[in-house]
Amino acid sequence: MNARGLREPRRKLHVKTYGCQMNVYDSERMTALLAPLGYAPTADLDDADMVLLNTCHIREKAAEKVYSELGRIRLVKEARRAKGRDTILAVAGCVAQAEGEEVLRRAPFVDMVFGPQTYHRLPEMVARLHRRSGAVLDTAFPEESKFDHMPRSSPVDGPTAFLTIQEGCDKFCTFCVVPYTRGAEFSRPVAQVAAEARALAQQGAREVILLGQNVNAYHGVDDETGQEVGLGELIRRLAGTDGLDRLRYTTSYPAEVDDALIAAHAEIPALMPFLHLPVQSGSDRVLSAMNRRHDRVFYLDLVERLRRARPDLGLSSDFIVGFPGESDKDFQETLDLVRRVEFIQAYSFKYSPRPGTPAAAMDLQVPEDEKDARLTELQDLLNVQQTAFNAACIGRRLPVLLERPGRHPGQLVGRSPYMQAVHVDASEDKLGQIIDLEITRAGANSLGARPLVPARPPAVTEVAARHAPEASL
Ligand code: SAH
Ligand code: F3S
Repeated sequence: MNARGLREPRRKLHVKTYGCQMNVYDSERMTALLAPLGYAPTADLDDADMVLLNTCHIREKAAEKVYSELGRIRLVKEARRAKGRDTILAVAGCVAQAEGEEVLRRAPFVDMVFGPQTYHRLPEMVARLHRRSGAVLDTAFPEESKFDHMPRSSPVDGPTAFLTIQEGCDKFCTFCVVPYTRGAEFSRPVAQVAAEARALAQQGAREVILLGQNVNAYHGVDDETGQEVGLGELIRRLAGTDGLDRLRYTTSYPAEVDDALIAAHAEIPALMPFLHLPVQSGSDRVLSAMNRRHDRVFYLDLVERLRRARPDLGLSSDFIVGFPGESDKDFQETLDLVRRVEFIQAYSFKYSPRPGTPAAAMDLQVPEDEKDARLTELQDLLNVQQTAFNAACIGRRLPVLLERPGRHPGQLVGRSPYMQAVHVDASEDKLGQIIDLEITRAGANSLGARPLVPARPPAVTEVAARHAPEASL
């Protein structure tokens, strides 16, 4: 590696993001961090002077995807080198954190490997790489917070923006790698979060999605009082931000939903009536083996309390089938819980043993074909519920935040309060607006709304009058 790249005024950065929304947020931040070094984003892998993979370690499939992508990028890197062009290949995110050395062993052509807590050191790592040969590996959990050293916010792309308020997890569910890859729970101070929300709104965001691996464990310090503030109170304060019309948060841990957060759902109109509340299983035996701190009665009661506060609340969840020792009876209890709650959307996964987690060493691993059968049955039920909710929206008027152009010309796509994608024929000047739309069609995954026809075109006589010289007084 030589210093040639550093002197070049313009270099290209190709970022590929896997996994959760926090990775999306982190990728935006890393892109902003690299801009002062002359890196401009490109969608074209072959043209990239630096390729950054922001990886996910949550399930085996997610991690393995990274290694196959690395194999593909190696060929691109070699082809570029043959033309005298260097490519920095960087692996960030949770695979990097969990398997740092392993990444370098399996893919020795990788130049940088670094975990989620050291992103702020990225410019320094790039400089180090230019100075010396050999790969750079940084998977520390540093004393300083990366949030104090990263750009305040990245340019807003569309009217919806992510804002990380909390990171890490101390819950240690026995199946999950997050506490190991993201580290201990950390909450950003209230003033920092509020400043970032204001900056996002000034750049055009109308909706902010507050992110955290355990977002409702938020307890940020209020610098003025020295007191800690919970998520309910934080939402209350952010709701007053000029230009922000919608707030959401994800992902929540059921046992930590407190009264203040429930009250926020009742009292703050900007807080959207949609909540992702992962339950994982409907069986107390399995929940206990998972080290979740709720049981089914607690969860069902929590849902009832939330719905009392906000009757139109739409619920979503995460499920794992085939956790070690899960019997058919346990699985039936999951189906029963789903029938009772009626989710409007959900994610469900087959249990994937993750190295180093307690569940991976448990006896009674469930055979793969059994997991497949349970997943299909659960997803069929969840799909029926989601489709029914969507169909029930036909004929309703819903406020839709128009986010981006659709696949067809003249079409825009937006989000309903319940996170449904809504397609509508409308002109691009409506992008970024929240418009009441009448829902006319519903599918399993999206809604359609009555077209927004442009204002009545002027009648021919009016046009003629406007162009007539005597009319131009
Ligand atoms: N609170 C976290 C949840 C982390 S992982 C968040 O930021 O969203 C997201 C989901 O992946 C979990 O809720 C769980 O359903 C699933 N998951 C985690 N570990 C898994 C594993 N080992 N096998 C299968 N699914 C898993
Ligand atoms: Fe993972 Fe459980 Fe935390 S699912 S992120 S250990 S709450």
